Amino acid sequence: MIRPISLFLILFVGYFTLSLKSIDYNTINKTIKTDALYTKGQNIFKRDCASCHYIEMDKIATAPALGGITKLRKKDWLYSYTRNSYKMFEQGDKIAKENISKGWGLMTAFPNLTNSDLDALYYFVEKRYEMSKKGVPLEK
Ligand code: HEC
Repeated sequence: MIRPISLFLILFVGYFTLSLKSIDYNTINKTIKTDALYTKGQNIFKRDCASCHYIEMDKIATAPALGGITKLRKKDWLYSYTRNSYKMFEQGDKIAKENISKGWGLMTAFPNLTNSDLDALYYFVEKRYEMSKKGVPLEK
């Protein structure tokens, strides 16, 4: 006779094996969970930035690709540049002078973006960039 504990073990191991089989690892690699901060950043990006910067962050459009920018620039610099790049140029900021002398068109100023807007915006920029590198298609 099978003792209840053995029956329990058989069921448990059986269930565990089956559930492992139903995981599709390809899908896991292609899905990175998005969250509220991502969605907020995405909305701001679509409204203010996507007309010039490529939304998948990995290609040049009429403006440079922004993927990886938070590793290249300091946060304070990024936030004030986004709010008014030309002002930084006028104040003699070295990187601003370099960027603006490269012959791109001029970037719009966004003085109304708050710190929390910019936190969300650059969170989206980097997360979207990671997703693009993994081949995750842009969500509709
Ligand atoms: C009208 C087009 C336009 C819009 C809209 C725009 N940008 Fe730009 N952006 C540019 C151009 C052109 C450059 C490169 C020349 C320069 O730095 O001015 C640039 C440069 C940048 C840089 C500097 C990159 C570096 O290598 O230092 C950052 C950061 C940036 N943009 C962020 C943003 C963000 C965030 C938004 C939306 C809030 C935005 N831009 C909206 C045109 C635009």
